[in-house]
Amino acid sequence: MLDALCSEIRLRANYLTDKTLDTIYFGGGTPSLLSIEELNRIFGILELHFDLSQLKEVTLEANPDDLNRDYIQRLRNETRIDRLSIGIQSFREEDLIFMKRAHNAAEALDCIKLAKEAGFRKFTIDLIYGTPGMSDEAWLNNLRIANELGMEHLSCYALTLETGTPLAKEVSKRPEFTPLEADAERQFRILMEFAEQHDYEQYEISNFARNEQYAIHNSAYWKGASYLGLGPSAHSFNGSSRAWNIANNQQYIKSLNESTLPLETENLTLKDHYNEWILTD
Ligand SMILES: C[S@@+](CC[C@H](N)C(=O)[O-])C[C@H]1O[C@@H](n2cnc3c(N)ncnc32)[C@H](O)[C@@H]1O
Repeated sequence: MLDALCSEIRLRANYLTDKTLDTIYFGGGTPSLLSIEELNRIFGILELHFDLSQLKEVTLEANPDDLNRDYIQRLRNETRIDRLSIGIQSFREEDLIFMKRAHNAAEALDCIKLAKEAGFRKFTIDLIYGTPGMSDEAWLNNLRIANELGMEHLSCYALTLETGTPLAKEVSKRPEFTPLEADAERQFRILMEFAEQHDYEQYEISNFARNEQYAIHNSAYWKGASYLGLGPSAHSFNGSSRAWNIANNQQYIKSLNESTLPLETENLTLKDHYNEWILTD
């Protein structure tokens, strides 16, 4: 996969007209499975084809179970990554077990402390609400813990059942565990109230920032900036056209082994531009 990704960087180096990058975002999937050497191999290829001297933010999406002390310190000291987006989901064991997350509540707390000790100043955590069995008070308590840990940025999502996932399969057998819209709606209101009371600005439906600690990369999407998306399922936009990569990992690798770009594109009409402007502005 890494070879294919590096080939795609080379083959698509001219997609963006401006080669000076503001941000880089490692999302997924779970990029925190990549070793420090693998991450730096990607940075090495990017340096050959893009100007990285003006980078404002380099984010790695990470799962708590991947974030041990040594890995976090090496991320901080040996790579360009200066921001972590940590998939905490909940600080409550029952919720993590229900969601079949690989990490436990202790790891959720520990990785945040380790990230601070390693010198990360920019990070965000993902939290999920509307989880069956999680009371409003338990949700509020998740938010209180995030606040007490000094989180300056939160991304909060209502639990959805994604087709084909183990959770969706389990819930289809036990409908009493179906996430209820009423719970999600009530807990979303609790979230917005809590945010207001604790000086978090809701700058996007799911994103809350204090002291203007906005996510620069994601904000660029919402402002219509151009971006190059690399890897299976990645989307790209260069101001006049959109492109999206094939989702299947094997086909993605095969295609790039044959030096063929695994993507489809669409050129945007004036009407498309107008509609997207309305959607994001
Ligand atoms: C792109 S995903 C990150 C992928 C991440 N490695 C993972 O294991 O979920 C970003 C965030 O989406 C949220 N998410 C993932 N699955 C979800 C679901 N079924 N319902 C709601 N939010 C979900 C989680 O908060 C996750 O951290």
